[in-house]
Amino acid sequence: KISYKQGKQPHAREHRLIFKNVDREGYDPSIECYLKDGGYEQLKKAMGMERQAIIDDVKKAGLRGRGGAGFPTGVKWGFIPPTNTKPVYLICNADESEPGTFKDRYIMHQDPHQLVEGMVISCFAVKASLAYIYIREEFPEAAIILEKALDEARAKGFLGKNILGKGYDLEIYVHRGAGAYICGEETGLIESLEGKRPYPRIKPPYFPAALGLYMCPTIVNNVESLCHVKHIIEMGGEEYAKLGTPNNTGTRILCVSGDVQKPGYFEVQVGKVTMGEVINDLCGGLKPGRKLKAIIPGGSSAKVLRADEKFKLKDGRELTIMDIPMDFDTMAACGSMAGSGGVIIMDDSRSMSWVINNLNAFYAHESCGQCTPCREGSLWMKKISDRIVAGTASPSDVDELERVANNIEGKTICAFGEACSWPTQSFVKKFRDELKSGTREELEGKVVNPETVLA
Ligand code: NAI
Ligand code: SF4
Repeated sequence: KISYKQGKQPHAREHRLIFKNVDREGYDPSIECYLKDGGYEQLKKAMGMERQAIIDDVKKAGLRGRGGAGFPTGVKWGFIPPTNTKPVYLICNADESEPGTFKDRYIMHQDPHQLVEGMVISCFAVKASLAYIYIREEFPEAAIILEKALDEARAKGFLGKNILGKGYDLEIYVHRGAGAYICGEETGLIESLEGKRPYPRIKPPYFPAALGLYMCPTIVNNVESLCHVKHIIEMGGEEYAKLGTPNNTGTRILCVSGDVQKPGYFEVQVGKVTMGEVINDLCGGLKPGRKLKAIIPGGSSAKVLRADEKFKLKDGRELTIMDIPMDFDTMAACGSMAGSGGVIIMDDSRSMSWVINNLNAFYAHESCGQCTPCREGSLWMKKISDRIVAGTASPSDVDELERVANNIEGKTICAFGEACSWPTQSFVKKFRDELKSGTREELEGKVVNPETVLA
């Protein structure tokens, strides 16, 4: 039986695979600890399997990328051209930067060998002999922990030349970013790894699985996704697929922040808990005397959901916000996305103009500047929302904000365009009256505190 540190026990609703060792009593990131707990046994098992059998298992498991897009991992691996003769690279995207998301950091800090084992198995499956962990600059401690873990794995023969005596060579390097959100976009990341400015590449037609790093096939997977590979090998793809719900299999880590009694991280079976259960069971409910106002369900790029919305789905289900199961498909059907698992809860003390201003400031700062609608539009949105939050905007500024966002969506090179326009579009659509009520005409020149004016 595993015991967890005082106050850090997993909630009874959790199902921990990836976070099994996170906050575990007496567990440290060393290889000794990992080996005591059956570490690298799945690597031994995988290296006794045919490569295609591993890929098939990941496909059968139905694993969907945990970085945010939810793209099926096994399908992505299958996109490496079958006639390929160039080197294949694997990149672990550890540039966890989506506001509201804080799960990969805990994996790397507390159980780095789980990631290394998942990576070595994945590299073996896709025939990569060189891999990178691209880690954001803001995680310096995690980078040191990972470098140590890689050294330990190398010393034990789980990495490097002739792994487990099977004639397979693999090297993994930790590459530190320099503090740019756009380096989490896979093609921006690849450009950065190549030593260039991280301008994202246009895709389609070419995706990294066919033409990636140095124009060679490159698989880019998120930290959590790569960790799941180890568990899929252990359980078998079919057994793993029994966790969660059809097409939304396995477990995933939700990072809950904002106005709840006990924010934190929770690993649950995908689709087996609802938003209401997340708030009331996992997080102990809202703060005393407060009412739910809105939720951003999957990292800051996801569209906001209003507490009083009703969702009529094509399959006949009628859901309130509290009934929404936390899975990729239902969240998309409700007009938002499960994204990176960052759930941001807002109660009735929150000013929506302050929230949107905060988001716009982030996106304006992080736009890489390569395309005009995003570069100019994100800054424009920030300037307009600066005025709204300060009470100096006019009501037409709120409509202008929406127009600018509409002119970014779908007109840019990378998904950052959507990431910065979707929050604004949805906040304006759903909280237009509130945003307009704080404008110059409405306030009639009253002196106001920008942070509380609309609370
Ligand atoms: P995407 O949907 O364009 O691609 C998902 C993955 O599938 C990529 O690896 C892509 O190469 C691959 N793919 C898709 N179609 C393919 C095809 N036809 N052939 C080969 N490969 C194909 O989404 P993207 O831009 O990779 O990610 C966007 C998501 O990232 C957002 O939804 C957001 O939630 C998330 N995100 C997460 C962050 C974090 O810190 N975890 C930060 C920022 C965004
Ligand atoms: Fe850069 Fe924005 Fe264009 Fe993406 S959409 S390439 S972040 S300017």
